[in-house]
Amino acid sequence: MPPRNLLDVDDLAPDELVAVLDRAMAFREELPPRDLCAGVPVLNLFFEASTRTATSFTLAEQRVGADVISFAPGASSLGKGETIADTALTLRGIGVRVIVVRHPESGFARRLADSFDGHVINAGDGTHAHPTQALLDLMTLRQEFRRFDGLRVAIVGDILHSRVARSNIVGMRALGIDVTLVGPATLLPRDFLAPGVRIERDLDAVLPRADAVMMLRIQRERIETGLLPVLDDYTQRYQLNRARLRSLRSDAIILHPGPYNRGLELTDDVLDDPRSRYVAQVHNGVFVRMAVLDMLVNGAPVPA
Ligand code: NCD
Repeated sequence: MPPRNLLDVDDLAPDELVAVLDRAMAFREELPPRDLCAGVPVLNLFFEASTRTATSFTLAEQRVGADVISFAPGASSLGKGETIADTALTLRGIGVRVIVVRHPESGFARRLADSFDGHVINAGDGTHAHPTQALLDLMTLRQEFRRFDGLRVAIVGDILHSRVARSNIVGMRALGIDVTLVGPATLLPRDFLAPGVRIERDLDAVLPRADAVMMLRIQRERIETGLLPVLDDYTQRYQLNRARLRSLRSDAIILHPGPYNRGLELTDDVLDDPRSRYVAQVHNGVFVRMAVLDMLVNGAPVPA
């Protein structure tokens, strides 16, 4: 059997998904001994800027005892014309067993995995997938509600460019969460419609019914001109702000993968609101990544 990868959430069967989340919860309660992946060489290969994902992976790798290698791919031989396959062969030859990769191109993690004889963890590829972000979001929902089935989650904003939204849709559907996508037609085309996934244009109609609202960043760097409606118009219709917070239930929660644009998709009131779970999300990210490393390197976790 070839080594397992985590390229998107559906690389995990639903029971494995829950097992990884359980394992992550257990790690959060009590850190495991630092020898889960003792001496396993793990390479962090980030071709795109990252604050939380890169630091969170690095800490997770250190906490399971891996030998952590991080380098700036700007200085790599891929830029000198070396193919992905040759780079993969070289890295394996050196002894790397796990590659955590982020790349602006959708499908890059898959291409790397196809030629690398080790584990590949996708830390975000283009607009395609970001599975560990979805796992930490699911962990935060589980921590809050202790169930998934029938939970109503609204994902709001620039769905089209969001690998976070895509991976969350996959994971949430696998777990029976009721997903409503909210955004303007230019950033949320109808092809996102799927069983269990609704499309709504009116945020105000969705808020009172939601158990959780996930606000997405407006990704200016990925938006070709013309797709984003006039910014004022966007904020008027889709910004989460003080007025809209009033229609959100008191037991609902607010998620955001970060980085957030204050004053654009949300206002300061949202980050100060007791229902905001941004800090819990980033906190959970470390444990989820430890659990993923443990699962890939040591085999499937024992379901709790
Ligand atoms: C996101 C990403 O880079 O995919 N951030 C993250 O990893 N937490 C979302 C974004 O860029 O908006």
